[in-house]
Amino acid sequence: MKKKVVSLILAATMIATMVTGCGSSSDETAATDGAATTTDEAAPATEAGAADAADAAADAAGGDYADKVVGVCIYQFSDNFMTLFRTELENYLIEQGFSKDNIKIVDGANDQATQTGQIDNFIAEGVDVLIINPVNSSSAETITDKVVAADIPLVYINREPDESEEQRWADNGWDVTYVGCDARQSGTMQGELIIDLGLETVDLNGDGKIQYIMVEGDPENVDAQYRTEYSVKALTDAGFEVECLSDQVGNWQQDQAQQIVANALGQYGNDVEVVFCNNDAMALGALQAIQSAGRTVNEDIFLVGVDALSEALEDVIAGTMTGTVFNDHFSQSHSAADAAIRFVNGETNEYYIGCDYVKVTTENAQEVLDMVK
Ligand code: GAL
Repeated sequence: MKKKVVSLILAATMIATMVTGCGSSSDETAATDGAATTTDEAAPATEAGAADAADAAADAAGGDYADKVVGVCIYQFSDNFMTLFRTELENYLIEQGFSKDNIKIVDGANDQATQTGQIDNFIAEGVDVLIINPVNSSSAETITDKVVAADIPLVYINREPDESEEQRWADNGWDVTYVGCDARQSGTMQGELIIDLGLETVDLNGDGKIQYIMVEGDPENVDAQYRTEYSVKALTDAGFEVECLSDQVGNWQQDQAQQIVANALGQYGNDVEVVFCNNDAMALGALQAIQSAGRTVNEDIFLVGVDALSEALEDVIAGTMTGTVFNDHFSQSHSAADAAIRFVNGETNEYYIGCDYVKVTTENAQEVLDMVK
């Protein structure tokens, strides 16, 4: 049911463009490969198709996976977005016929060595399929090698391994895939949230430039890199002049972002016109700092995040956050489970299974909130 709402929202959204960041260079090659471009109908159709295929697969196999064991490695349980993701993943696997006891979800505690030990344990146990949200995407090659050697199919989620690693799966015909969204699209949408307000509204000091602060997630993560680059690139592509006042790493964490933004506001004061946060948890921290500094979002400063956490959506509705971008954990978790099911049934998957982000403004925030709550 929720999928239908997602499709409606997707169909009612969309546009595309590209970007650059404070000290980071713009990557035109990446920008032109079409990954940041969104289309209205493609995502819902793909999503519905994947769901239908999974239903059909489940039916064909009797729809009963009660004796199949799924090992799920999450990089860190305390991450807000990954909490939504893993909860939905577990519920959906149960709906598909897996037994709750056989869905083994473990917390990597943001430590690759811990997670590697958990993967070794799952291999020793002989699980039927693994779903892995790596702590470090750069460890994917090592992880893939040991999981493939154990003849266990593997679905990576949320933190995309690099292109050469994905190519290796294809070249070797391995049962390995990645399910996730293209972060370039979310960065572009963040930029559009600002562009759509118009230069006159955002350029509060009237110097013809947009002065901004960037708060980045984990720098090893491609989501953080692309959101940082593409949010700003959207502005420059739209002809806006930009000036980066501060670009710092908040590791996806609310408290770290609060500190970063408090310091930046202390240093740059009213010069700060826009605060870009790579995710909503950090945008919520930024909002605390903005309010403590006596500033008012949408009046004398603008603030955008990504994920569409309930609290952030409430802020968008209340006008205390300019906008966010829905990171569709329903679609991603369902696609990951569907891919795992296909592997369990002895079928293959594409090596990359994508999903679209949705731009969230006051126009659709309530609709998205009704869906995620
Ligand atoms: C991103 C999400 C962040 C954080 C990160 C973890 O997609 O926007 O909030 O959860 O994944 O890798």
